[in-house]
Amino acid sequence: MNNMPTRILTVDSALNLAESIREAAGVLKAGGLVAFPTETVYGLGADGLNPHAVAKVYAAKGRPSRNPLILHVADIGSAVSLVADWSAEAARLTSAFWPGPLTLVLPRSHLVPDIVTAGQPTVAIRCPAHAIAKALLAECQTPIAAPSANRSSELSPTLPEHVLKTLNGRIDLLIAAGATSGGIESTIIDLSSAQPRLLRPGILTVQEIESVIGPVVLTNSENESGALPAPGMMARHYAPHTPMQLALERSDLVQIYEKWHEQGKIAAVLTLGNWLDVQPPSQLIEMPILPAHYARVLFSTLHTIDLNGFSSILIEFPPDQPEWLAIRDRLKRAACPDA
Ligand code: TXA
Ligand code: MG
Repeated sequence: MNNMPTRILTVDSALNLAESIREAAGVLKAGGLVAFPTETVYGLGADGLNPHAVAKVYAAKGRPSRNPLILHVADIGSAVSLVADWSAEAARLTSAFWPGPLTLVLPRSHLVPDIVTAGQPTVAIRCPAHAIAKALLAECQTPIAAPSANRSSELSPTLPEHVLKTLNGRIDLLIAAGATSGGIESTIIDLSSAQPRLLRPGILTVQEIESVIGPVVLTNSENESGALPAPGMMARHYAPHTPMQLALERSDLVQIYEKWHEQGKIAAVLTLGNWLDVQPPSQLIEMPILPAHYARVLFSTLHTIDLNGFSSILIEFPPDQPEWLAIRDRLKRAACPDA
């Protein structure tokens, strides 16, 4: 790892795009670390076939070595070469949803270094849709190993400043190109065992996936037992620093808010729509009532709250409906008080 300040390349026009991509690809090919936007969140990239470069990703993030990384690829052909068995489900899902926010876990081929998969026999692969991620992959001609560009257990970044908040000076380069459109991480489907399994819900819904390959087993998100369904998918991921509480019912929310108000807590209260009067210095933050819009602003809202001196966050938990699965998953992890 270097202690040099992170170089920032701001891409805001087609003119500086090509030059920035060439420079970033050079850094990656030389074994360096580059943070870049994808359509979900910013990723922290390294040459996925260079074990020394991938080791720097774990070091920069402070990521446990047992938590494997996603390999990002330019196209389906590149993905096929990284897996031992390209199944019919993989073919159907990738032709329907790639490039896009879908990660597939498949048996790995001999090309994939151990450090990428944390020694596991499977590899996670995704073909991103963001123009900068695509251009970078096309230019460097190698899979890019990229977790979200945050220190381990911190919130995922949806803006360049979120990346710098925890990784400035720990990575070589940041391609800064505004907010990511999706706002939460990709949906992960495990195709390596008999039945397709959901490892992480995301913007791409289970219903959309089931419409292409039939039933998917839900293992992760609604599993409250604390078991570890995938390595690294432990609680206390995606957590803001400000303590956070979820209210299942509006009446609970009102009660908690009133108690906090009496105690003099300065609360950020996130509701679905504007239905509550909140007294300053506490603040009502009206969240979108459409799941895709909610996802887009969720992490940036929590990042902003962390910077603004609130003592607590109170959140109206969205309804138990399939389209809210990914949001509920991220909120539960962020609110988990132990671990
Ligand atoms: O949207 C995304 O997926 C973003 C962008 C940058 O692409 N990336 C991302 O990476 O969220 P990360 O490392 O923060 O989350 C990847 C998750 C981890 O929970 C990891 O445990 C899981 O994928 N994973 C990786 N390889 C796996 C494997 N072989 N089997 C099961 N889970 C795996
Ligand atoms: Mg992450």
